Amino acid sequence: MPLTQRDIDREVAELREAYEASRAAGAPAVHHPARDYAPYRSSALRHPHRPLVPVEPDPETVELHGPVFGPTDVTDIDHDLTRQHTGEPLGERITVSGRLLDRAGRPVRGQLIELWQANASGRYAHLRDQHPAPLDPNFTGVGRTLTGDDGSYSFTTVKPGAYPWRNHENAWRPAHIHFSLFGTAFTQRLVTQMYFPGDPLFAHDPILQSVTDERARQALVAAYDHELSRSEWSLGYRWDIVLDGPSATWIEEGRP
Ligand SMILES: [Fe+2]
Repeated sequence: MPLTQRDIDREVAELREAYEASRAAGAPAVHHPARDYAPYRSSALRHPHRPLVPVEPDPETVELHGPVFGPTDVTDIDHDLTRQHTGEPLGERITVSGRLLDRAGRPVRGQLIELWQANASGRYAHLRDQHPAPLDPNFTGVGRTLTGDDGSYSFTTVKPGAYPWRNHENAWRPAHIHFSLFGTAFTQRLVTQMYFPGDPLFAHDPILQSVTDERARQALVAAYDHELSRSEWSLGYRWDIVLDGPSATWIEEGRP
């Protein structure tokens, strides 16, 4: 019999209670999810079971064989997902802005930030997404930008819809945007997800809940910022990304 949402919710609650008990007993905070986070069924299949193989002797030689990019490769419309086709995409137009910061709160400048997301109906423009929500011919759902000298970035897009997935029966992901940060080399790539405040699906999403620490989980949720909203144009969300240290944004492990 397929697992129900209730089964998953129970597993999530048990793991959270175990984490909180360990914290109460003095264990340090854990910002990253366990690699085998049982409620997120496929997580057990998606990480190495053996120690990683170091790239020897010189990790930088990998860079000689990888793709390269420079500031001139990132064009003005790459950060505006509503201008990449002849018509405008359907949905609620939003601006997502923030800063990329290191553990000391210093801006990280000149960084390539990429994002990808479902359209307003919750469908990806991707062959593997075949669930019966409409595609939007004016929305591909990918964008990129470089951070400015103050570490800032900004994207214009449409708010993605929630979508179903097959983790368990009647499983739905809260609206989210995937982010990738490249660092100074492709081997440093970091991947994470941003969520929208107040989503009723948070409690039922084993991917978000795999971050068992409440504070770390909240760091993945953007804030609605009226100062960023533009009159008669878009709603503004602010989301800062902290690369490491106690305020670090959770970053997915095991991604290339
Ligand atoms: Fe997604």
